[in-house]
Amino acid sequence: ITVYVPGDAGALSLGADATAEVLAAEAARRGADVRIVRNGSRGLYWLEPMVEVATEAGRVAYGPVQADDVAGLFDADFLSGGVHALALGPTEELDWLKSQQRLTFARVGVIDPRSLDDYRAHGGFKGLEKALAMKPADIVQAVADSGLRGRGGAAFPTGIKWKTCLQAQATQKYIVCNADEGDSGTYSDRMLMEGDPFQLIEGMVIAGLAVGATQGYIYLRAEYPHAQRILEVALSAATADGWLGDDVRGSGKAFHLEVRMAAGAYICGEETSLLDSLEGKRGQVRFKPPLPAIEGLFGKPTVINNVITLASVPVVLAEGADFYKDYGMGRSRGTLPIQLAGNVKRPGLVERAFGLSLRELIEGYGGGTASGRPLRAVQIGGPLGAYLTADQLDVELDYEAIAGIGGMLGHGGIVVFDDTVDMAAQARYAMEFCAIESCGKCTPCRIGSTRGVEVIDRMLAGNAAERQRNEALLRDLCQTMIDGSLCALGGLAPYPVLSALDHFSEDFAKVADKAA
Ligand code: NAI
Ligand code: SF4
Repeated sequence: ITVYVPGDAGALSLGADATAEVLAAEAARRGADVRIVRNGSRGLYWLEPMVEVATEAGRVAYGPVQADDVAGLFDADFLSGGVHALALGPTEELDWLKSQQRLTFARVGVIDPRSLDDYRAHGGFKGLEKALAMKPADIVQAVADSGLRGRGGAAFPTGIKWKTCLQAQATQKYIVCNADEGDSGTYSDRMLMEGDPFQLIEGMVIAGLAVGATQGYIYLRAEYPHAQRILEVALSAATADGWLGDDVRGSGKAFHLEVRMAAGAYICGEETSLLDSLEGKRGQVRFKPPLPAIEGLFGKPTVINNVITLASVPVVLAEGADFYKDYGMGRSRGTLPIQLAGNVKRPGLVERAFGLSLRELIEGYGGGTASGRPLRAVQIGGPLGAYLTADQLDVELDYEAIAGIGGMLGHGGIVVFDDTVDMAAQARYAMEFCAIESCGKCTPCRIGSTRGVEVIDRMLAGNAAERQRNEALLRDLCQTMIDGSLCALGGLAPYPVLSALDHFSEDFAKVADKAA
């Protein structure tokens, strides 16, 4: 009997290793023939460690299963899907999963991420097989036609980026996967790499075939050791089976792929800093142009895409551009793996076509705040995203719609705050974050963020007149940072600050003022 116990880092942090260990020992003690598979997470984090049993009627779930629940589960005959207080029913019937549209995450939590056979049995490499029979320009066209836009946050059309690289003349080109996932409240890259690493590999080989690149690198966040281990296993298996190497599946085309561990700086997620870091230098932002697609890694044409962008490509090739494009709204086509985090009852991964509302996500999937207190603010798009208010929840998840209310969809991380949040402290945090993480190359960000913290401190300490004076100064400083910063860190950090000032000005009033 196969029992699934997630090996995903989120599940591990909630005790999945101990659960798996005790489960193996208990099975041996009782003489039960159990095979434990360490799958990825299904993304229902409030139920992790979520254990699944493959019964004749399909997989049934139990959760959260801690080590000391295991004996009770055996007593309740969970191996046959028996009734127990932790029983959740058939996994595929769980409302939270059933209502999702999992294209990119279709296999995550389902398969054994270390097994190439399992990957193939679930439709893996279908996209690459098609790509191997296509001309590079046709692969690029299919990606362009699908409407896929960069999922790292900037939402630039992937087809245009690939076309720029394809058209660049060079003897060597590169594919770089930006896996330096650093935004607060985001974890979809990590989950994908830990739960379905072959899909990322497949997407990168397709990208290589499309633009004529023969070498790829996955620049992996330093804090993701579990993903590193799984990726290394998957890379060896893919190489042994001919999906990577000098002659990909007898096509005569080469593609090599390696993992490089990042150095641990937020700014190394910015594409040009990432390239410097990958070249062995200190990660510092480069001027653009030249665009990396024309002069990137080691000065050669380079496609840099986020994990989810590259992992979306196999579906586009396997099922066709129209299939993918059918999902979504407006210019936001396909699906977005949204990550619910912060003060929310049911945090986790929701993959849905663009277009559902923030309210549906937070109140429907998320079940409201974990504390049960009223929701006060929501931050989308990481630490550089604006704070939205409780009366903006009806906005649809769509790049343009969110931008229309001053927000940023970014990498799809949603962090929820209840009414105990101090928004002045959050604004100060945004500036402080920028000051700490600034690469130092340009003045508005390097100096501006430090001065910004000081001005906020003066606002919070002063009387009403001083607060007003310093607020004007802060707004002016924010505008300078927006207008004059070289990259998104300095250019976007003012947005959470300004949104806190605009929507939550009462929090900036001194304690004494509030009492008065
Ligand atoms: P950008 O808008 O400058 O560029 C987007 C991408 O399009 C880049 O790869 C750029 O090289 C490419 N590009 C632009 N014009 C092109 C052309 N004509 N041909 C080919 N390629 C072209 O945005 P940037 O600075 O790369 O990213 C900023 C975004 O990053 C923010 O909006 C934020 O959402 C996101 N972000 C994500 C984080 C994460 O952890 N995922 C962390 C921090 C920020
Ligand atoms: Fe570096 Fe900040 Fe300027 Fe970006 S905005 S280049 S992080 S100093």
